[in-house]
Amino acid sequence: MSQTVSRADFDQFMVPNYAPADYIPVRGEGARLWDQQGREYVDFAGGIAVNALGHAHPALVKALTEQAQKLWHVSNTLTNEPALRLARKLVDATFADRVFFCNSGAEANEAAFKLARKWAIDTAGADKHEIISTTNSFHGRTFFTVTVGGQPKYSDGFGPRPQGVTHIPYNDLAALKSAISDKTAAVVIEPIQGEGGVLPATADYLKGVRELCDQHKALLVFDEVQTGVGRSGSLYAYMEYGVTPDILTSAKSLGGGFPIGAMLTTEAVAQHFAVGTHGSTYGGNPLACAVAEAVIDVVNTPEVLAGIRAKHERFVSRLRAMGDKTGAFQQVRGMGLLIGAVLAEPYKGRAKDFMTAAAKAGVMVLQAGPDVVRFAPSLVIADADIDEGLDRFEQAVNEVVGR
Ligand SMILES: Cc1ncc(COP(=O)(O)O)c(C=O)c1O
Repeated sequence: MSQTVSRADFDQFMVPNYAPADYIPVRGEGARLWDQQGREYVDFAGGIAVNALGHAHPALVKALTEQAQKLWHVSNTLTNEPALRLARKLVDATFADRVFFCNSGAEANEAAFKLARKWAIDTAGADKHEIISTTNSFHGRTFFTVTVGGQPKYSDGFGPRPQGVTHIPYNDLAALKSAISDKTAAVVIEPIQGEGGVLPATADYLKGVRELCDQHKALLVFDEVQTGVGRSGSLYAYMEYGVTPDILTSAKSLGGGFPIGAMLTTEAVAQHFAVGTHGSTYGGNPLACAVAEAVIDVVNTPEVLAGIRAKHERFVSRLRAMGDKTGAFQQVRGMGLLIGAVLAEPYKGRAKDFMTAAAKAGVMVLQAGPDVVRFAPSLVIADADIDEGLDRFEQAVNEVVGR
């Protein structure tokens, strides 16, 4: 018999590394969620930029349930059809020639950083192992990825960190110029810093980073875990910028809510992961790959991508007007459906208050650090849901600013 559970059970039974909200969602449909009490929310969070097609999208339910009748898991001593189909689609749609599957963004980055070092050490010797990343970046929570991430609050306190990782300010080409050398194996960049505050790179910066990597024979790794699979308005954000990486990582939206990660790379680089060098029990899981294939099929169409850009305009014009009216925001920035409202001076540090007030008003939003309210809704959210969610968000803003 099933037992009733409540938020109090979290505090009693779960490791206390999260502080979840006091309501528990139990059901979702499209861009709406309902909690245990039957209260309805407009979902502008999408997990954290994960539910690319909202909740219970019919194409994803179909792909998952059909695959569930056929085959759930095989080991990597075998391959499987959904993984092969998805790999082919990702290769056809991007710069990449080869794909490695895993289960999360951190694992995709772990694979990327290991591959970059392996490539560099194989081709130029042990000294060429340095990884340059940016301050305020986020790349996951394994010890290597959290070390490459530029937020010491996440990597401190666990003893000695992996060596050979340096951090330079984001969007600062001069800083990279000083830091990069022939010992650099890879430069790692989020085309838009997501957790770091929804901060887009400038096109000149990314072009300059590419040139410096080429000059020093270093690989350019784009972490597109948050920006990938349509989030930016293109299938991957590198396409928006016209700057092609050597390795790209994807997760979050790729599975639309089913766990999957992928690392994409070129033929020449991929060859440095020979048999036995890296692996994952669940990587390439048939259920995950079947769902991700359906996500790519839906998202990677001119209509859906154009829709994302149109919805971006709908969000930002309304948020800017709200900012003008209330004085709550100093800037609204981002790309596609990854949008950040940067809090004005009097409200700095209070992103969580906006998030809590929004939930109270019936709309789920995210924070990206203490100073930015983040929006990462379904890529196919209906305009009516955007409007209603923003009406509710405006109530929340008014409450926080005391209007
Ligand atoms: C840019 C970026 N990279 C990596 C990760 C880590 O992904 P995961 O939590 O799936 O390991 C995240 C998660 O927020 C992210 O935003």
